[in-house]
This record gives sequence, structure tokens and C-alpha cells, in this order.
Amino acid sequence: MIYIKTAEEIEKMRVAADLVSRTLGEVAKWVRPGETTLKLDTIAREFILDNGGRPSCLGYQGFPGTLCIEVNDTVVHGFPSNYTLREGDIVGTDCVVDINGYHGDMCYTFAVGEISEEAALLLKITEESLYKGIEAAKAGKRIGDISNAVQTYCERAGYSVVREMCGHGIGRSMHEDPEVPNYGRRGIGPVLKPGMCICIEPMINMGSKNIVITSDGWQCKTRDHKLSAHFEHTVLITENDPEILTTFRYIEESLGK
Ligand code: MF3
Ligand code: CO
Repeated sequence: MIYIKTAEEIEKMRVAADLVSRTLGEVAKWVRPGETTLKLDTIAREFILDNGGRPSCLGYQGFPGTLCIEVNDTVVHGFPSNYTLREGDIVGTDCVVDINGYHGDMCYTFAVGEISEEAALLLKITEESLYKGIEAAKAGKRIGDISNAVQTYCERAGYSVVREMCGHGIGRSMHEDPEVPNYGRRGIGPVLKPGMCICIEPMINMGSKNIVITSDGWQCKTRDHKLSAHFEHTVLITENDPEILTTFRYIEESLGK
């Protein structure tokens, strides 16, 4: 069942999306060689709690962090740990907050210090593919139009699209209908309607699309151990162009971009 949000609910979605955006803006200040991923997690958790929110992932089906930490070959759902970030790493931080009963969800993959040209290109193309997906998210179009836009853009650049993990609807729950795959045919799937809120989140691999899940049942890595990148926004479907509720503006300010 896909919920259409009321004007009042949309205001609450904006608040949640703003809080998660500002949270990753704080995290961005700490992404550098020598910091642990646990430090990033602590920064996020404290910022969310200080601002009246709740970290949605923490404790969700036993997940141990506020952030999902995605270093290098980790695709999604990595645990914060005492791993110390190194020059040349890429690290995704995926964060969901709940404030006043509504969720905001966002992910950004950072470069740690100087990274290789090929890693930088993977980040660039993956982020751009997110915006290609968003451009396709117009009322009257279908989920498959988003999926196809992301897939086409990434595969043309020579990358592969993870199949097992998808974007999703969002609202009172962190995961609502519909599923939003990053691959698929145009013109298939549910029709997009004004008032729907969805998360679009390409997970894009430098090598093959195949993944493995570690024995803890959570942490998802590329099977060939090549790099994977992940960007995500929470998006509102409107009568006109889609409205991106989350923003990378705070991150970019922190990074001096
Ligand atoms: N941000 C993730 C998503 O987009 C949230 C899942 S994290 C979990 O679906 F640990 F809570 F599962
Ligand atoms: Co998500």
C-alpha cells in the first residue's frame, strides 16, 4: 500500500529530511584519515538526539549503529567500528532519523583525503545517477522510469548496479511501499502520484554487480572486493518537478565545496 501524504505530513517529512541532512553535514566535518567510523557514528547519534530526533537504524532488527558505514567494498549496512579511515578510502554514511513520527533517509559517499581518479569517477557518476533518477520521478511516470534512468546512466559509464538492495517509500515507517529498484524497464511498476515520498538510492559497483553478506547477516560487500558507491535522497512527488527533501548542501559546506 502506497501512502499519499497530506500537506501536514509533508511538513513533517521536511523537518525529518532537514534533520538528517544537517546530521550528515556534521559527520562530514570528521571524515578524514585517522578517525574511526565509530567516531562518525557518535557524532551522528549525539547530533540527532540533541536536535529532538531518534536514530532510526539504531536497534532496528538489531542493527548496532546510527549510521550504516560503507568503506570501499562495503555496499550497504556496514557496522560502525574501530576501523580507522585511511587516505584513499571511500566511505558511505547512510543515515535515517525519526522526528515527530516521520523519517528522513539520506546517504553520501565521501572521499577520505586524496583518492584515486577511478574512485573519484565512481563517486561522481553514482551521485549523478541519483539526480538522473530524481529527474525521472515525475507524477504520471512509473517507478521503472526511475530505475531505468539510474541503470542506463551507470552502465553506460561501465559500472554495474546492485540488484538485491532497493530504494523505498518512506514516511511513518523507514521502509514503505513501493520498492524503488536501481535497474529495470521503463514504463513498468507503480504510477507516481503527487504526495508520495520515496527514497532513491543507487548502489553502484566498479566491478561486477554481485554481492556477499557477511556471517552477521547484515554487512553487504562486493563479491570481487572492488569499490562500491551509494548516494541517497528522500524525494517528494509533486504535480510538477519532484522536490528533493534532503540536501547535500550542509555536507558540501562542511567540505568547503
Ligand atoms: N538507509 C537504509 C535504507 O536506505 C536504512 C537501512 S539501515 C538499517 O534502507 F540498518 F536500519 F536497516
Ligand atoms: Co533508504
